[in-house]
Amino acid sequence: MRNLNEDTITQAVIASLCECRNERLQMVITSLVQHLHSFARETKLTEAEWEAAITFLTAVGHITDDKRQEFILLSDVLGLSTLVTAQNHAKPDGCTEATVFGPFYVKDSPEFGHWDDIANGASGEPCFVSGQVRSIDGAPVANALLEVWQADEDGHYDVQMAPDEDGALAHRARGKLRTDANGRFGFRSILAEPYPIPHDGPVGALLDALGRHPWRPAHLHFMVQAPGHETLITHVFRDGDRYLDSDAVFGVRSTLVAQWVRHAPGTAPDGSRIDTPYYTLDYDFVLNPEGNSR
Ligand code: BEZ
Ligand code: FE
Repeated sequence: MRNLNEDTITQAVIASLCECRNERLQMVITSLVQHLHSFARETKLTEAEWEAAITFLTAVGHITDDKRQEFILLSDVLGLSTLVTAQNHAKPDGCTEATVFGPFYVKDSPEFGHWDDIANGASGEPCFVSGQVRSIDGAPVANALLEVWQADEDGHYDVQMAPDEDGALAHRARGKLRTDANGRFGFRSILAEPYPIPHDGPVGALLDALGRHPWRPAHLHFMVQAPGHETLITHVFRDGDRYLDSDAVFGVRSTLVAQWVRHAPGTAPDGSRIDTPYYTLDYDFVLNPEGNSR
């Protein structure tokens, strides 16, 4: 293993993995080394460019903490998250498609009942969301767990906001719900609006250098879980949004685009009287039974 040159280095690194006891790890790292070396050869990568890449990745690491995940953002804007999601969630036609998870999910969100208001002070026009969860055979799925999260009208998720005086983060515009015996759910929240992904860090600087904008079309995030079914992680996107065809993270699928309907003041779907205009969204989710890949 001496005197390695640009023709022999790749094979030498791959050979060094021969004692690896984890077959999958060996396979993945072998492939990674081959692709990285091919990339450096193909682009004739200079030392200055290599150093700039190291500086960039260091900045991505430095800005990442338990509230901000710049590595996921990087994966998202390079389309890697969409590729990994797509190749791991091939489902039969008729199932609701999956899309990127994003960095703003919170595990322990509060639980709500039918037609409760999950906004908890998040700003935005009132919106009532309803639908049904079914299995691929059309049967309603009772007691499915739905988790929903969304940004407010200024494009901020609760986790991006300053904590309360006691240091606690308030849960806003997110929560857990259960479907009823007919697989139906309903909740009140706020109108989804387009927003830019966090772009004040190295990923934002990269987008800028590439001449790309940081905007995502208006959407709601859902995670839907039910026994015997694959967990669905997806969004519902608002029809007519100007960013549907240029989502900064490549997450839009036509089947996930739905109509938000605007209503004049009156009796809202939860039976309450509402004296401002409000919106409704009706969207059904179809789950794939476990082990039923395409
Ligand atoms: C989101 O929709 O919450 C999101 C997804 C990817 C990157 C940033 C934000
Ligand atoms: Fe989002």
